[in-house]
Amino acid sequence: MNKSTGHKLATRCIHAGNTVDAATGAVVPPIVTSTTFEQPAFGEPGPFVYSRASNPTRDALERLVAELESGVRGLAFASGMAATATILELLDAGDHVIAPADIYGGTLRLFSEVRTRTFGLEFSFVNFCDLAEVERAIRPNTKLFWVETPTNPLLRIMDLEATVALARGHGVLVAVDNTFATPCVQRPLEFGCDIVMHSTTKYLGGHSDVLGGLNVVADEELGRRMVSMRSAVGGVAGPFDAYLTLRGVKTLALRMERHQANTMVMARWLDEHPKVEQVYYPGLDSHPQHALAAKQMDGFGAVVSFVLRGGLAEVGTFMNALDVFTLAESLGGVESLAGHPATMSHSNLTAGRRAQLGILDNLIRLSPGIEDIDDLLADLDYALAGC
Ligand SMILES: Cc1ncc(COP(=O)(O)O)c(C=O)c1O
Repeated sequence: MNKSTGHKLATRCIHAGNTVDAATGAVVPPIVTSTTFEQPAFGEPGPFVYSRASNPTRDALERLVAELESGVRGLAFASGMAATATILELLDAGDHVIAPADIYGGTLRLFSEVRTRTFGLEFSFVNFCDLAEVERAIRPNTKLFWVETPTNPLLRIMDLEATVALARGHGVLVAVDNTFATPCVQRPLEFGCDIVMHSTTKYLGGHSDVLGGLNVVADEELGRRMVSMRSAVGGVAGPFDAYLTLRGVKTLALRMERHQANTMVMARWLDEHPKVEQVYYPGLDSHPQHALAAKQMDGFGAVVSFVLRGGLAEVGTFMNALDVFTLAESLGGVESLAGHPATMSHSNLTAGRRAQLGILDNLIRLSPGIEDIDDLLADLDYALAGC
């Protein structure tokens, strides 16, 4: 029996998927390191056979996140990129994918530099905030919409319900990178999307100490196909990583509450600061898609980006003066991180492409952690004063 059914999200983060170990009653799922499992009799394999196909520790994480995302099957991978790559394995050579122009830089690289060359997949990159543009890009061979909302680093919001309606009319699957939102804030499968993808390296793991990815699917048949693709390709999460991620997810609701509260205060504070030209955060009334974010999200996420007055020199001064914030790639850990998209996450784009997308040289992305907000604001205040 699934004892978490009907419970609120914070309860489900802890109990969903029944992670109590059936064999021992251990409240914390054991880390099962065995790569192979005894078959009770010839021709009668048990529930586990070989760890690339399934592993008890990984299964516990997969059940937990599948339920949080309102899906039927979760699949944990060695990284977010391995999870994304396995979604593409569902397609055939010559199929066409439509994706937002401003997706995560690593996804863009996989799509446009790798899978185009090795799989013969075709990609169109469009403005997903304008569904008429998406519709114009549909071809007879279009099989997948790849959606990322909120986007990295400009926090643009895409309308999930309207995207699904458009996809249904053309027999196209919808996959959503839900990394920035987490299931505490947005559950795309509840809007009719087919696949949710996470870089669990971020909020789900939550402590910047484990790399991972996860896909959750909305129906059993898709689940079977993806399990088969993952087994064939093999980019699975190991049991230690699965355990750490599962441990992280247990506190996800609590952490997201604090992350989001800190980010909202910080966004409003930055918005008033004379050294700041513009703030991007869907929680601000001034965000062009604030109403849409309020409609489809339970909160506004916990990444805020801002344009600093000045150029690269001022960005350098600001970054070097930070003390509580750490200058580093990534986001979603308990510690506050500051990043510079133009030279870090989006450095693989040309300067012209970055300018087209609005990723300016003086754009800074913050991932506020769960420290005391007073210390975070004092840190920003000191760093901005020097610019
Ligand atoms: C939105 C988003 N999707 C996917 C990824 C890739 O995940 P990973 O680094 O776990 O492979 C990242 C990593 O930064 C990301 O920010």
